[in-house]
Amino acid sequence: MKAISTALITGASSGIGEALAMALAAPGVTLHLSGRNDSRLAAVAAACRTRGAGVHPRVLDVRDSIAMAAWIAAAGLLDLVVANAGISAGTGLGTPETAAQARAIFATNLDGMLNTVLPAWQAMRGQPAGADGVRGRIAVIASIAAFVALAAAPSYGAAKAAVDSWTVGSAPAAAADGIRLTSVCPGYIRTAMTARNRFPMPGLMDADRAAAIILRGIAAGRVRLAFPWWMALAGHMAGLLPPSLLGKLVARPPGKAPNQSPPIEDP
Ligand SMILES: NC(=O)c1ccc[n+]([C@@H]2O[C@H](COP(=O)([O-])OP(=O)(O)OC[C@H]3O[C@@H](n4cnc5c(N)ncnc54)[C@H](OP(=O)(O)O)[C@@H]3O)[C@@H](O)[C@H]2O)c1
Repeated sequence: MKAISTALITGASSGIGEALAMALAAPGVTLHLSGRNDSRLAAVAAACRTRGAGVHPRVLDVRDSIAMAAWIAAAGLLDLVVANAGISAGTGLGTPETAAQARAIFATNLDGMLNTVLPAWQAMRGQPAGADGVRGRIAVIASIAAFVALAAAPSYGAAKAAVDSWTVGSAPAAAADGIRLTSVCPGYIRTAMTARNRFPMPGLMDADRAAAIILRGIAAGRVRLAFPWWMALAGHMAGLLPPSLLGKLVARPPGKAPNQSPPIEDP
């Protein structure tokens, strides 16, 4: 595989996106990074520059399809695009998701992913192919939550299921265009998103380790990369259970602390 010399990452101001940016940062590498929080994004950009990378940070909301398309079109040749930005809500014990939470999650996690991947795919079609026939690589960060309907976070699980299914389903068409499309389905990763979870998180993994696994999977051309494998298996098996049985097994859905991070705003 051709080495990654230019990458564009959404949600790079924190967590997995930050860890991916840091893992890629090196002399000769150009990074286009976005997020909404100016100061956190600037701090990540500065840290990547200390590793020798050229960095172009951009404060941008993935829900803004026009601005996203313009940003990606102006980035120039891209070896890798990662649609990573996402939010979760959780519901607290027995508290139903609000309409604002549901709409914000779908707008960010699903529409935001399309607002990233579709312009990236369009741009990569016009790029020269490497010796391996690949014009570019696009990864989306879905989740093991895609594999099972979650009473505690129905919109999060449903949006991630759509993200994973769309990505895996689109991979053959992308491959015909010389583009490798990867759906990344991580288990629990130690980030701001999970910091407020008030329940045990089996297999909780540091973001740096997750970033290394993700970059290896992208390089290997994986269509779906779900890890850790035993969490993915458990997720798939739970997804096979009849909803009534699953409901009994998860009678008290786990929750998050009341103040969500990042906060849910009306889109
Ligand atoms: N942590 C886990 O256990 C886990 C597991 C599976 C999948 N994931 C997925 O991994 C991805 C990254 O999550 P994380 O755990 O790293 O959480 P995080 O630390 O909270 O990072 C989320 C990132 O998304 C950005 N973001 C959120 N809404 C945005 C918007 N509307 N426009 C632009 N950027 C936005 C945030 O930027 P600002 O704060 O600057 O707005 C931040 O950089 C998400 O898609 C998440 O669903 C996480």
